[in-house]
Amino acid sequence: MATDADIARAAETVRRGGLVAFPTETVYGLGADADDPAALARLYAVKGRPAGHPVIVHVGDASQLRDWAADVPEAARRLADALWPGPLTVVVRRAARVSDAVTGGGDTVGVRVPGQPVALALLHAFGGGIAAPSANRFGQVSPTTADDVRAELGDDVDAVLDDGPCTVGVESTIVDCTGEELVILRPGGVTRERIEEVSGQQVSGRRDGLVRAPGTLKSHYAPEATVLVVGGDELAARVGALVAAGQRVAVLGPAPLPDLPPHVVVLDAPGDADEYARVLYARLREVDRRGFDVLLTVPPPDEGVGVAVADRLRRAAGRGDEGTQ
Ligand code: TXA
Ligand code: MG
Repeated sequence: MATDADIARAAETVRRGGLVAFPTETVYGLGADADDPAALARLYAVKGRPAGHPVIVHVGDASQLRDWAADVPEAARRLADALWPGPLTVVVRRAARVSDAVTGGGDTVGVRVPGQPVALALLHAFGGGIAAPSANRFGQVSPTTADDVRAELGDDVDAVLDDGPCTVGVESTIVDCTGEELVILRPGGVTRERIEEVSGQQVSGRRDGLVRAPGTLKSHYAPEATVLVVGGDELAARVGALVAAGQRVAVLGPAPLPDLPPHVVVLDAPGDADEYARVLYARLREVDRRGFDVLLTVPPPDEGVGVAVADRLRRAAGRGDEGTQ
């Protein structure tokens, strides 16, 4: 587990232009000084992310939103005050000084204060903004443990701060605060209901994905195995057909699952959507580690954090909207 000395060293590494992976409450991030274009170039190279994709700036305190935004709309202020530190990213118009490497050349910037003690200690020690995508290679499953990060990035990262498994397990909710109405660009750890409650506004979800990531991305969060999303009532029949065809099948779905044929491995049957979110990426990684051909998943009910889980399952199945890496 990361000590105070590890955190101080990691802050120094970021200051010198290095890359540091760190835990957040959602997933592990791969961090670089958001004011250092050379460090950001290396971040993009290690991640394998095409240019033109914006990255989220992480800051240690809500008051720092002003350093990155041209203006802070009232709704963004309310969301930040009520939900930070927490799994929420607000998209606001960028301040003039913000690097194109952060914004992907666009005129907005995403900012968040993560609700994780080691992340906050790192941000406080560093002082400025840390740009951090999820610490996976482009298109792969996001890491929720330090071991996942080490396995995926190896020596390409200068330091990995370990604080155990992430408690939320899916990425932050991204809310576009630049228009007349709030728009959820990516469902995540904060529910739409909560955003409506805090902002006092109706919030629309964008079905066409993030327009900042044009035309390139078919599947995300995707293991090697084929991922299929099915309804609970079809599960037993689909499993049976795949097993009969000689496929090695694993199952992930909310409890209670129906009776399944022998030799089918149930990876997990989470009791609620929060628990489903927490285990989701670990199970997707497990599928490949154990060499299954097919993962059959049943999504949780499409409400609360279940919306984010269902979204990531669709993406893992290669049927997601574009734009989340
Ligand atoms: O929970 C999270 O948000 C994690 C942790 C590490 O903080 N970070 C994360 O970053 O998921 P990343 O880069 O893997 O996904 C961020 C998504 C990308 O799809 C990116 O295009 C989008 O957010 N994004 C970032 N800035 C944006 C902006 N200004 N406008 C629209 N989309 C933006
Ligand atoms: Mg990502």
